[in-house]
Amino acid sequence: MTEIKADNYSIFISKDITKEIKRFLKVNKNRFSKLFVLVDENTLKYCYPQLVSRIPAFEEAEIIEIDSGEQSKNIEVCLQIWEALGEYNADRQSLIINLGGGVIGDMGGFIASVFKRGIGFINIPTTLLSQVDASIGGKTGIDLNNLKNEIGLFCNPQAVFIDTAFLRTLDERQLLSGFAEIIKHALIADADYWKKIKKTNIHDFEKFDALIETSLRIKNKFVQEDPFDKGIRKALNFGHTVGHAVETYFLEQNGQEYFLHGEAIAVGMICEAYISNRTAKLPDSELKDITSFILPRFTTIKLQETALDRIIELMAHDKKNEKEQIHFSLISSIGKCIINKTASQDLIKESLKYYLEHVKC
Ligand code: GLY
Repeated sequence: MTEIKADNYSIFISKDITKEIKRFLKVNKNRFSKLFVLVDENTLKYCYPQLVSRIPAFEEAEIIEIDSGEQSKNIEVCLQIWEALGEYNADRQSLIINLGGGVIGDMGGFIASVFKRGIGFINIPTTLLSQVDASIGGKTGIDLNNLKNEIGLFCNPQAVFIDTAFLRTLDERQLLSGFAEIIKHALIADADYWKKIKKTNIHDFEKFDALIETSLRIKNKFVQEDPFDKGIRKALNFGHTVGHAVETYFLEQNGQEYFLHGEAIAVGMICEAYISNRTAKLPDSELKDITSFILPRFTTIKLQETALDRIIELMAHDKKNEKEQIHFSLISSIGKCIINKTASQDLIKESLKYYLEHVKC
């Protein structure tokens, strides 16, 4: 078991996390009046049974189930959950246990942090993506009109429990989606980690404890230095200016083709590596290295010229923007990030074309 200390909570990583969860619930037993477990149909089926059979306190908990997927991450679903909490007589000492991926973690954290002006929550992230990213750092929130995380607040969980055994319940696309954030951590902060990642086989589950730990230590460092995302934490957004816009674009197409968050971020990292090459001195050889590593591993997208304009339009909603200018977090070399960079619309379009040309190769 590994423990990483964040601001005022701990992140536990293990191949069997039940012991740590039990200890946490025992130590805090007088603090919590009632437990609620927020799940979707997948975590109810595949993850909850593993916990309830080994943690007696889970038998007493009320289960609140939502539909899986980004489509659930909205205010209507929040209203239903707040109403359910009210019907179950949840009080201020209640604890919400978020058992799921990024949607459950972000939305469950948001629901808890405003219910009765704030109740406690813990995260048990079950996807690789949420284990290496959303589960820590205190960003909670929901989407608004398909715009990602438009409403939300910073609020830390009381603890995060990462059980790498849950990764075995994921298909390859889900694993790769999380792997995209691991790649991002290496690109923005650690050239040696990048070399290690290039040798990683994503089916080698034994290696994941170490990868998750390294990634979380990188993320935790940025978050501790800048918890409210005003400065250096923005580096964690490398690949996300383009990536979020691509994700929103496909959500707008009513899910006919769907892309997972990490898949969109993979597109974003290639485009933003291109912008880094043109504006932040990222060497040609490193742009080539990044493109040739990422492209063959991820589901690729095809886009018409009109889609490129809409994607650029969507970037106008990015939370990093200032004075109506689109801001990027870029890299000046592998392992070195640079924040608050702007790029012209022509260059952004060129970067999307660079991506599309390489998809064709
Ligand atoms: N996912 C980026 C951050 O937490 O800042």
